[in-house]
Amino acid sequence: MGSLSSSAFGPVKPSSFAVLLVLLLSCSSFSSTEAYDALDPTGNITIKWDIMSWTPDGYVAVVTMYNFQQYRHIQAPGWTLGWTWAKKEVIWSMMGAQTTEQGDCSKFKGNIPHCCKKDPTVVDLLPGTPYNQQIANCCKGGVINSWVQDPANAASSFQVSVGAAGTTNKTVRVPKNFTLKAPGPGYTCGPAKIVRPSKFVTADKRRVTQALMTWNVTCTYSQFLAQKTPTCCVSLSSFYNDTIVNCPTCTCGCQNNITDPGSCVDPESPYLASAVTGQGKSSNTPLVQCTSHMCPIRVHWHVKLNYKEYWRVKVTITNFNYRMNYTQWNLVVQHPNFDNLTQIFSFYYKSLTPYEGLNDTAMLWGVKFYNDFLSQAGPFGNVQSELLFRKDKSTFSFEKGWAFPRRIYFNGDNCVMPPPDAYPWLPNAGSRPVTSLVFPAFTILASLVFLLPFA
Ligand SMILES: *[C@@H]1O[C@H](CO)[C@@H](O)[C@H](O)[C@H]1NC(C)=O
Ligand SMILES: *[C@@H]1O[C@H](CO)[C@@H](O)[C@H](O)[C@H]1NC(C)=O
Ligand SMILES: *[C@@H]1O[C@H](CO)[C@@H](O)[C@H](O)[C@H]1NC(C)=O
Ligand SMILES: *[C@@H]1O[C@H](CO)[C@@H](O)[C@H](O)[C@H]1NC(C)=O
Ligand SMILES: *[C@@H]1O[C@H](CO)[C@@H](O)[C@H](O)[C@H]1NC(C)=O
Ligand SMILES: *[C@@H]1O[C@H](CO)[C@@H](O)[C@H](O)[C@H]1NC(C)=O
Ligand SMILES: *[C@@H]1O[C@H](CO)[C@@H](O)[C@H](O)[C@H]1NC(C)=O
Ligand SMILES: *[C@@H]1O[C@H](CO)[C@@H](O)[C@H](O)[C@H]1NC(C)=O
Ligand SMILES: *[C@@H]1O[C@H](CO)[C@@H](O)[C@H](O)[C@H]1NC(C)=O
Repeated sequence: MGSLSSSAFGPVKPSSFAVLLVLLLSCSSFSSTEAYDALDPTGNITIKWDIMSWTPDGYVAVVTMYNFQQYRHIQAPGWTLGWTWAKKEVIWSMMGAQTTEQGDCSKFKGNIPHCCKKDPTVVDLLPGTPYNQQIANCCKGGVINSWVQDPANAASSFQVSVGAAGTTNKTVRVPKNFTLKAPGPGYTCGPAKIVRPSKFVTADKRRVTQALMTWNVTCTYSQFLAQKTPTCCVSLSSFYNDTIVNCPTCTCGCQNNITDPGSCVDPESPYLASAVTGQGKSSNTPLVQCTSHMCPIRVHWHVKLNYKEYWRVKVTITNFNYRMNYTQWNLVVQHPNFDNLTQIFSFYYKSLTPYEGLNDTAMLWGVKFYNDFLSQAGPFGNVQSELLFRKDKSTFSFEKGWAFPRRIYFNGDNCVMPPPDAYPWLPNAGSRPVTSLVFPAFTILASLVFLLPFA
């Protein structure tokens, strides 16, 4: 971690250096159970529980999950929500979701509840659910996009009819111990808090109605709790050095044909098709192409061109997983020059500014129906874009890896970078003092677009 200091990256603005320190500190605080993401400090998923009507023995509520995270979304196979009832409540019926188990309803005669468990587990219904079992914002297979990328699909709702519950706002008890899986661990949910009842505006905007009672639960994500092995790595190259710095070997696993021959597949292998379709399809374990890093996702950052006032980067995301199409993928990239991003081709861009006045982190994602779909491993399993940055003379440099990103997330998961000492060097610049590159002279010479500035 110490090697990520300013000397590893050359000139760094004092302000960004301070923040880099903050980020490093918060990185190490992942080792506590604290749920905090330095790049999205207020990110959370809020579960809102609106009681819409009382029934003879309980109430009907609409439960909505809002994804207030900038870039972390919930992908297939989707969310799982659980809680513990405070009393002896049962679920008579649900719309737009279902519990995974009914539990023991043996004491009921006649009408049998949908679920009698004290700690029900709820999952979303799949797309294509009959209309009479749907409500608004349901039935997306548990997928919730981020509000930055796709605000129209950043919420997920279901309706629940609860029995053996209180029937007034004095006697009803809020459920306890909410758990959210997405689908693995990572989220921690706080207690339900009774809040001001939600208000709803009718479609014609001429009338406002309100819930009879509302409570909110806030869930936050922690990389530490998720305890994922890496799923993504970064490789680097540049126009000024032929070396391609590959992802670190064994980033996401090691290729081992002897003890685990099925751990990866060769694209040339005759078994590929059967391996992908055979046992696979339903299973969510990745089936990756054999590589030295064994990661399902690789992000390649190529420093492509140097102009007088600008420089250009090509970013390529490659999918090595034969069992996963990523819909609505996103990248978060930190580089000090994002404050002067001039143009980005074929990706969307939003500046994430978790610290006021610092603008070095960007969220990038694909254009709908063009490249927001990252296909499974194979000839179409990649997306790419080019970024054009305007040089800020006081900070810009090709030395000491400055042109490479400080960190990258793919779908919210950290991508492992090569060690800084492996970054491509400027020819002859490796061990020389900083003063050896005379920038003014070289910018005057370079009044035209040039490709080989140091020849
Ligand atoms: C959850 O996120 C929303 C939107 O960013 C924010 O307004 C709210 O304060 C957050 N809640 C908590 C408890 O952090
Ligand atoms: C319950 O309803 C009464 C009026 O009907 C209201 O004054 C009170 O604030 C409500 N309590 C809660 C917790 O919503
Ligand atoms: C809620 O979880 C806490 C800690 O896991 C546990 O001590 C408590 O008994 C649980 N409460 C209920 C009602 O299950
Ligand atoms: C409860 O959640 C809703 C929906 O996210 C939000 O609009 C509301 O402000 C929240 N209330 C409180 C008190 O946090
Ligand atoms: C595993 O197989 C690949 C090709 O299928 C080969 O390149 C590699 O050397 C093998 N590794 C071991 C440890 O045998
Ligand atoms: C990915 O999408 C393609 C095209 O829609 C489809 O043929 C393929 O089966 C999908 N693969 C997976 C693993 O879902
Ligand atoms: C961050 O930089 C981008 C690109 O130069 C610019 O469009 C945006 O307005 C900046 N945002 C802030 C908050 O400075
Ligand atoms: C780069 O962005 C910063 C902050 O947005 C601004 O102060 C500076 O003038 C910009 N530099 C250039 C060369 O555009
Ligand atoms: C290119 O960078 C590598 C470090 O990744 C370095 O070993 C090599 O000497 C550099 N090549 C030239 C021509 O400077």
